Amino acid sequence: MNIKEHWDNSYTNKSPQELGWYENVPEPSMGLIRSLKLSPYAEIFSVGTGASTLIEHLLEDGFQNITVNDISSVALDLLRKELGKEECNVEWITDDIVAPTKLKDLTPIDLWHDRAVLHFFTEERDQLAYFNLLKSKVKPKGYVIIATFAKGGAEKCSGLPILQYDQDMIAQRLGFDFELKQALNFTHINPKGEDRPYIYTLFQRR
Ligand SMILES: C[S@@+](CC[C@H](N)C(=O)[O-])C[C@H]1O[C@@H](n2cnc3c(N)ncnc32)[C@H](O)[C@@H]1O
Repeated sequence: MNIKEHWDNSYTNKSPQELGWYENVPEPSMGLIRSLKLSPYAEIFSVGTGASTLIEHLLEDGFQNITVNDISSVALDLLRKELGKEECNVEWITDDIVAPTKLKDLTPIDLWHDRAVLHFFTEERDQLAYFNLLKSKVKPKGYVIIATFAKGGAEKCSGLPILQYDQDMIAQRLGFDFELKQALNFTHINPKGEDRPYIYTLFQRR
């Protein structure tokens, strides 16, 4: 099974609310995003969004230039249905973030948001591809929010191995051009009631 099929199956076999990463309210992400006081016209790019409730919250906050990505078309179809008529206010890009085709045409962005995606890229070449795309798209003074499983937390997600991060590892990947503005630990409780410690990082491009 290839990786797209893996993710399509995940979103076919369970409802979004049953998935381990489901958040009723994406509080840490929205807290960080609101602290930035971005213009409603800011270009926001959400990586590997899945069926996340983040997008409805961003729309509620009045953001008008949201681009949503995922490798799974099943996930994005679920999210489209959930958003109803609001779906036309969002740009949709089904593509692989580490082997981008359509994503190469993404316009420059003010905010890159990733929760629970980067940590799946355990191979060096995928990590390089991820950060190369990010660096080619985030504007000067633009922001990056990356949330991953934290050190000492879970070792797998969705049955796949993951790489645990701390803020220094993410900072190292981003390089000197990105300044760490905030890092916070947050424990997500999954639908089985288990703790899933995350590290949330916020960077700004110089
Ligand atoms: C654990 S889920 C997190 C979903 C969402 N970010 C959230 O916080 O609810 C990981 C998501 O990344 C997507 N994904 C995995 N590999 C990807 C890739 N190479 N390119 C784009 N999306 C990917 C999956 O389809 C899935 O929706």
